[in-house]
This record gives sequence, C-alpha cells and structure tokens, in this order.
Amino acid sequence: MIILGVNDGHNSSACLIINGKLKCAIAEERLSREKNHFGYPKKSIDFILKYCNISTKDIDRVAMSSKHFIPAYYYVKRNSKLSIQDYWKEQTDYWYPKLIENKNPKYLEVMSHLVDKDNFHYDEKLIKNESDASGMWDARVSHICNELNIDPSQVVHHDHHKCHGFYGFVSNNKFDEPALIYTMDGFGDGANGTVSIYEPGNKLIEISRSSNCNLGRMYRYATLLLGMRPAEHEYKLMGLAAYNSHKYGKNAYKVYAETLQVDGLKFKYDKKIKDHFFYFKEKLEGQRFDAIAYGIQKRCEEILTEWILNGINKTGIKSIIMSGGVAQNIKANKLISEIESLENLHIPPGPGDESISIGAAYLEYFKNKEKYESKNYIKNAYLGQPYSNLDIKKSIQNLPKNLKLQKLVNDRVAELIASGDVVARFGADNMEFGARALGNRSILADPRNSDVIHHINKLVKMRDFWMPFAPSIISEREKDYIVNPKKIKSRYMAIGFDSTDLAKEHISAGLHPFDKTARPQIVYKQDNPSYHSLIKSFENLTGVGALMNTSFNIHGEPIVGTPEDAIDTFLRSGIHHLILGEWLISKTD
Ligand SMILES: [Fe+2]
Repeated sequence: MIILGVNDGHNSSACLIINGKLKCAIAEERLSREKNHFGYPKKSIDFILKYCNISTKDIDRVAMSSKHFIPAYYYVKRNSKLSIQDYWKEQTDYWYPKLIENKNPKYLEVMSHLVDKDNFHYDEKLIKNESDASGMWDARVSHICNELNIDPSQVVHHDHHKCHGFYGFVSNNKFDEPALIYTMDGFGDGANGTVSIYEPGNKLIEISRSSNCNLGRMYRYATLLLGMRPAEHEYKLMGLAAYNSHKYGKNAYKVYAETLQVDGLKFKYDKKIKDHFFYFKEKLEGQRFDAIAYGIQKRCEEILTEWILNGINKTGIKSIIMSGGVAQNIKANKLISEIESLENLHIPPGPGDESISIGAAYLEYFKNKEKYESKNYIKNAYLGQPYSNLDIKKSIQNLPKNLKLQKLVNDRVAELIASGDVVARFGADNMEFGARALGNRSILADPRNSDVIHHINKLVKMRDFWMPFAPSIISEREKDYIVNPKKIKSRYMAIGFDSTDLAKEHISAGLHPFDKTARPQIVYKQDNPSYHSLIKSFENLTGVGALMNTSFNIHGEPIVGTPEDAIDTFLRSGIHHLILGEWLISKTD
C-alpha cells in the first residue's frame, strides 16, 4: 500500500509511506525557500516520488490533512506572505469591522495588494466566493488529481486534529502502553484542542474536542501586539517571558487570567470576548513589552498543566503525548513534564502543521486495520531527503576560487570549534524534520563560551539579543548537564529542563542566559552516528560532551534544504567553514 500524505495549507508538506514505513517527509519551505510555505507542496512531492522511485501510477491513496481552508487564504498565501503590517491591517480593516461593527468587509478587497491571481493554480469555476471552503476543497482535489494524474476517488481527507494526534501517537512508538494524546493549535477543521485516549489493543478514542482552546489564538495576537510575526515568532515571547517576574508582570497576567479557563477536559470563559485581538490590545495598553510576554506565557503554562492534570486524574493514564503548534512551547512543556503524577511526555519532531501530512498518511494506513501493530514506524526526526556523495560532489564542482576543499576529519573540526571558529554542518544523511536543526542542517560552536553567541549573530543569524541558543548533548553525558529525574527522552529540542552546575561551566552558551534552563537535543548514536561522532571528537579534545547548535539559515530564511542552498548560504554568511557530507570547505580570505 503506497500512500502520499499531503498538507497543502499552512506550512505545507508531503510524505510517502510504503506498507506502513515512512520513506521520506519534507516541509515545502525547505525546497521552495518560502518560509511557512502556503499551498500545494509541489517540490516536496516531486522530490519524494523521484527519491523513492515511485511513479504517480503506483500511488494507492493521497491522504489530505485538512478540509476547511478558505479560498481567500490561498489567493494571498497567508502565513507565508503577510508582513507584520499586513497582519495589523488584517485586524483593523477586516476583523474589526466584521466582529465589532457587524459589517461585511471583503478579505480580498482589504488585502488586495497581496492577491496573486497568476499564482492561484486552482479552478475558480469550482469556487463560489472568497470564504467557500467546500468549493476550495473541490478545487484542491481537482488540482492534485491533475498534478498527479490520479482519480478523485483516490483522494481522501483526514481531520486536522486527528492528523496532529495520530502523528504524535505513531512517532511515540509505544503501542503496548496506554497514552493520553493532546492536540492544541491555532485552529484546524473547526477545533483547536482535543484529547484522545489510547489503550493497547484498541484504536485511539477522542474523549474531548473543543473550539474554545484559544491559547494559540491569544498567543499569536500577543505576538502581533509586540510587533512580531504571528504564527512564527511566538517563541520569541516565550524566550522574553523568562526575564520578567510576577512582581512586575502580574497586571498583564491578570488580564489573561480573567478570561479563558480550563473546564475539565474542555474550556470556558469567565468573561465573554468578542474579539481576541482588540480585547487584549485595549486591556494591555501601557503594559511593558516583557510584562505582556510574561503574562501570556504564565497563563499558557497554567492552562496547559491544569488541562493535562485533569486528563491524568480522569483516566489514570500517566503517559502524555502532545502535538499541534502550541506543543512547541518548551517552557510550558518543562512544567508539564514536572507534573508529579506524569510519568512520560512525548512531543514529536515538528509538531506544528508541517507534520499533519504524516498524520493523514498513517490515519489512512491504519484505517481498516483491526488494531495498531507496533513496528517502529517513525524511528527519529531524520525523515527528510538524503543526498548521496555523488549529489554532493556535483554541487561542489564549480566552487569559487577562494574556497579550500578538504576531506572531513572530525578531530580537525573539533579543533576549529574549540579555538572559537563557527562551523556550518550539512549532513548528507536524511534531513531532520521540523523547525529545530538537529545536526544535519546546523551551525555549531563551542558551548563553553557565551561570547560565541554574539559572534554567530554577527556572522549569520542576527537573532534577537534575548533569545537563547541550544545544546546538542551526546546521550552518554546527558546526566552530567541536564536535570531529568523521570528520564524523559529529549531528542528533538522540544522540552525545557533545569541544568546542572557542570552545565553552567561546560555549556553556558547553550543555556537560557537568565534562568539557565536548556532545551537540549540529546544525540543518540543510533539516531545520527556521524553527528554523534563529531561531538565525541569535541569531547575527546575538551572534555565537553556537547556542542552549541543553531539552525543553518540566514535570519528570516528557511533552514537550508539542498547542498546548493548550503553553499549559497555559506557564501552569503560570515562563517568560515562548512561541512558538506564528507567534505570540509573553508574560506581562504
Ligand atoms: Fe494545526
């Protein structure tokens, strides 16, 4: 059975599973070079079919991951094309008249400067108006059938939140243990929070579905209020929140605390809110920026921990899986992991909408099976495209004269890093899936030296000054650096942890500068042997079993996808050394 999973909405992506085995999964932004790509993931599908040597005739099913997308968002490619000013305009010129003044503005008139009819590849005859989600679904199916030359009967839809939850469940690889699966996001197919229960031998059963879990919505509007991009820069508020405290942030916190409440496994409002942007904008006027960040983050942590504790108490199940965009809140995940009765916490790589294509494909695969048979379907985060030595050789044939090419020797790279150099790494093995760089598309530096953060910012990243970097720690050294009494697996940089005294000495550049927490990637040899071996070389030289790791991209661009992107980004940056598969490329000037 060959199933192509497709998310053709926000953060679009594709994947292919053959008889249950995930062969490849790619977020379209890595190949299109358009951050948070919105729309049909053509480049990912083309790559995956070619890489897996599959013709479109071989595909049994195309599993799509959301039904309810309105045409207006496809015309403007919302989330990938809107600037911060556009998001603000959307609020003042579209949502305010609509929700507060009961008028009927037209989205495509308000955002007419972004409408790109030439790049709208869907059959307009099928679409009645800008909010006709049903017509848009027909147009999406028709489009994918034309692209792949398949029959509409082969295209199936799976609910957005079921896709989030099922991806979390399958990637946990524990089919013999009960689990509670939570999903939480901005919105998808009419919901923004669900809870499902898994008991071995049974299928997943959804026990709660809510359209009132508005944490994602509140968070995205707080992000916009602070002048940052919604649905992208929420993590910057999370990083900022740690610098404030209840003493100075309590008034902003109170604004959030008197609205949304947990109600068992659902949610309710103490105060009715007509609109989540203007209500909080008015109430928070005059509050300091970091107090607002503190307020929304603190409330987010409280709501999530209470919601999850209610599930544990109600069902007695102590193993929690979380998926959906809000599950990327590593500070909340830290507190959730510390719930006394919780025994295990799994957050998959890339829990946002980039992974719903994988959830859709697996829902389709298991649809007619009596029960779920455990097969280690998703082993780790390295789900993307690999490049052979031949591919890489082709990409380095015409390098500029000022570059020196050498065979990669890990000990030499360890020396470079230990002497203060910054090294970009493009691992030839499968690219990591999700927003976190996990060694194969990473920029690496010495974690002992906090000054290296400013150095990296100068060379390539220009990150916000308050944002922490993160460490990659070899699994053998986890206990030396990370306080993790429950032994929760942290392979994907998804959970925050307290750090040890030794960590403050060995990996200070990879800790939050203020609260000294870490969001580590624990590197197991079996997950990524070549990256593990490089860190080991650094340990042999310095005694430090970790590297500082940040994503390989220039500020605002997607993480590099291909060897050509890696070389291009390297040349445009101030970084002096690039590992490209089995080669080390260095600038000589
Ligand atoms: Fe979602």
